[in-house]
Amino acid sequence: MSADSPATVPAVIGDVIAAAHRIVVLSGAGMSAESGMPTFRDAGTGLWSQYDPMTLATPEAFSHAPDVVWAWYLWRMHLVRTCQPNAGHVAIAELAEHREVSVVTQNVDDLHERAGSRDVIHLHGTLEALRCSACDSPHRAPLQIPAEQRPSVDPPQCHQCGGAVRPGVVWFGEMLPTASFMRAEQLAQTADLALVVGTSGLVFPAAGLPALARGAGVTVVEINPQHTPVSDVCQHSWRSTAAAALPALARLVRASGAG
Ligand code: OAD
Repeated sequence: MSADSPATVPAVIGDVIAAAHRIVVLSGAGMSAESGMPTFRDAGTGLWSQYDPMTLATPEAFSHAPDVVWAWYLWRMHLVRTCQPNAGHVAIAELAEHREVSVVTQNVDDLHERAGSRDVIHLHGTLEALRCSACDSPHRAPLQIPAEQRPSVDPPQCHQCGGAVRPGVVWFGEMLPTASFMRAEQLAQTADLALVVGTSGLVFPAAGLPALARGAGVTVVEINPQHTPVSDVCQHSWRSTAAAALPALARLVRASGAG
């Protein structure tokens, strides 16, 4: 299914969304796929089928080869800046005009915000929230982002201590931001509906949120073209894409009026 395919909301999911007042969207890389951002684990196209996360997405990798890691993240920042929110991001922002909507995302891009979503929690940080790898000070100087992918670029130096500046993401082996994760857990347990969009459900602790929601009596609906471990936890799986399914949901909510 492509972004242009008209999607018909399955009746059972239509009933659930019409009745839901508080919606938490749990999004992963598939949410931004139709914007042109590669996912991590899709066969052939996923970043982790082309790059080794252990040499690019760990604190050890950054200590060992900061120039290689920094260059790779600059390339990803360039990709994000050149991508636009897709119809799915826009539909989520539109849903918030009719329902109470919070977005909990594993994505490090800013496409939810650029589409107009206001309550967005980034569990894995955001690419351009730069900080010092030594003293943790935020780094706000303007960035030079090359338009082409380079094999190595030295990271900027921290203005406070001279340490190497790093991207604002959570790397493998690092803790998620505590306050953000606590808020995500609270939202997952208190929503009427958890919409799980475009995640393989393999990376914990984020991957535990759908089960936490289900355990708290929240209805869990997955939107993903593929079967995932979330499919075994949720009440309904919709085999569609973010940019096809979410606008159809938003249309239905708009037609059904205020929540
Ligand atoms: P993955 O790449 O693991 O999974 C992407 C999911 O999106 C798959 O289940 C796809 O079937 C689905 N998908 C692909 N295209 C889609 C579309 N157009 N609409 C809806 N779904 C689609 O990405 P995540 O689950 O987000 O962590 O990965 C989790 C974490 O692993 C990432 O945050 C990242 C990565 O290592 C860090 O960087 C810390």
